[in-house]
Amino acid sequence: MFINKKKLMEPFHSIPKNFIIFFFVGFLLFFANALSLANAKVHSHQFVIQATPVKRLCKTHNTITVNGQYPGPTLEVNNGDTLEIKVVNKARYNLTIHWHGVRQMRTAWADGPEFVTQCPIRPGGSYTYRFTIQGQEGTLWWHAHSSWLRATVYGGLIIRPKEGDSYPFPKPNRESLLLLGEWWDANPIDVVREATRTGAAPNVSDTFTINGQPGDLLKCSGKDTTVVPVNFGETNLLRIVNSALNQQLFFTIANHKLTVVGADASYVKPFTTSVLMLGPGQTTDVLIAADQPPAKYYIAARAYASAQGAPFDNTTTTAILEYKNIPCPPKGCASVKPILPPLPAYNDTATSTTFSKSFRSPRKVLVPTDIDESLYFAVGLGLQNCPSRARARNCQGPNGTRFAASMNNASFVLPSNFSLLQAYKQGIPGVFTTDFPAAPPVKFDYTGNVSRSLWQPVKTTKLYKLKYEARVQIVLQGTSIFTAENHPIHLHGYDFYIIAEGFGNFNPKTDKAKFNLVDPPLRNTASVPVGGWSVIRFVADNPGVWLLHCHLDVHITWGLAMAFIVEDGVGELQKLEAPPADLPVC
Ligand code: C2O
Repeated sequence: MFINKKKLMEPFHSIPKNFIIFFFVGFLLFFANALSLANAKVHSHQFVIQATPVKRLCKTHNTITVNGQYPGPTLEVNNGDTLEIKVVNKARYNLTIHWHGVRQMRTAWADGPEFVTQCPIRPGGSYTYRFTIQGQEGTLWWHAHSSWLRATVYGGLIIRPKEGDSYPFPKPNRESLLLLGEWWDANPIDVVREATRTGAAPNVSDTFTINGQPGDLLKCSGKDTTVVPVNFGETNLLRIVNSALNQQLFFTIANHKLTVVGADASYVKPFTTSVLMLGPGQTTDVLIAADQPPAKYYIAARAYASAQGAPFDNTTTTAILEYKNIPCPPKGCASVKPILPPLPAYNDTATSTTFSKSFRSPRKVLVPTDIDESLYFAVGLGLQNCPSRARARNCQGPNGTRFAASMNNASFVLPSNFSLLQAYKQGIPGVFTTDFPAAPPVKFDYTGNVSRSLWQPVKTTKLYKLKYEARVQIVLQGTSIFTAENHPIHLHGYDFYIIAEGFGNFNPKTDKAKFNLVDPPLRNTASVPVGGWSVIRFVADNPGVWLLHCHLDVHITWGLAMAFIVEDGVGELQKLEAPPADLPVC
């Protein structure tokens, strides 16, 4: 290589002074940047999916787990870190893992929903999910996104502030993760397969769980009950996740106030309550002060069952908040009985509403205005009529029908030969269409007495295309078809502002007055009120294919979903990255 010696040895004073200053500042900036990059870590893990014997409610099941753990391992990272998780499928089912709530900026290939952003990992196969946490802090979680495998394949994802940053509240003395789950005294895959075969509603679960344990109100569960230790005078940060499949849950702790500080990995303006309501998919971070007489207090959760007359699991799962140095009776500490808190009635919609209306962002936020895409999605159930000869076996739903569910009357069907993202990027025809309707094809009184002729959705794979950086508003309108109920609607790849919610039909003329365009909460899952509506807004700044669906697994099984295509922007950093080399093929 030829080096111009003369140039290299040019005397310093011939360089302009401005340039030296500029260079020096640049060097400092580069150094600071390099430091913060050095702080951002890469966490590499291996998740081996395998059947493991798990005993609950007196009976052992060959349960699908991650690394033999149920619930699975907790991932702990700092905002800005990268995760690299090799998933090795040693189970007998196809499977994918979804990182619920992670924005996945430009990394849609790592999002995980089966047949949406990837083909499933076949038994014996593997896939490495690689993505970076950007600007999110709090609690998220991960779960299988194939069939009902998430019943047992799930775990927490804790995101702490960047090193050197702190929480926007006094640092708690302790932190505890509480994963609320749902357990079937059966193989959950058999439960959903049976329902799919018959067209009837699947069996409800046999108990709820906290960190995989039913708690001592359930049979054979006493000695393994989850214990959360506290010291008098301390503050504990509880990270609560509703990882149940099909049930909204109320959550409370005897004699202790809960101060909500975050939800879905965004901070909220703190507010105090005695009870939380979480829809499946949602997370809530709360501070509790251990300021009560040292004793044992139950942490309890049970159903918020909003659908009238529908069967639900009516058990109460518990864990124990246990103070150190409890004055023990002569019989010993084991005989100290925990104090049981009151829980709202199963159908207490008023409590759920008061809770969800308490959420605000910590300060004024930039809510998108000048909406480019004003969408109106009717979400709810439906029934599929059957040809009479099919009746007996496959049509055991109400009046010889099969259960269905839809958005804007489209009951979503996943492809089976390509993922939607792959079909979109590679231009493979015939996998989906892009004519998902921006509003219900027929307008009707959504929450009234809906005519039977409107109960039959159409099975399709319709997507809706969004331009890069389109400002989107969606009115999520619940319907009373078959039955009205609360739907936890989750959008992949995005956080959105929930700017309003209400009961009945959304009225564009009068309900605009209810919009909070100042400090609405930022979430990834909206609990659409039973027989009501929610309005959400976001900017489509993340290219890819993104699923929008009800996080009740029974509803996604029935088709309560759709997907957005978000186009690439023009800049290099506004485009979806190339697919990883090990992306599974169908
Ligand atoms: Cu938590 Cu589509 O999922």
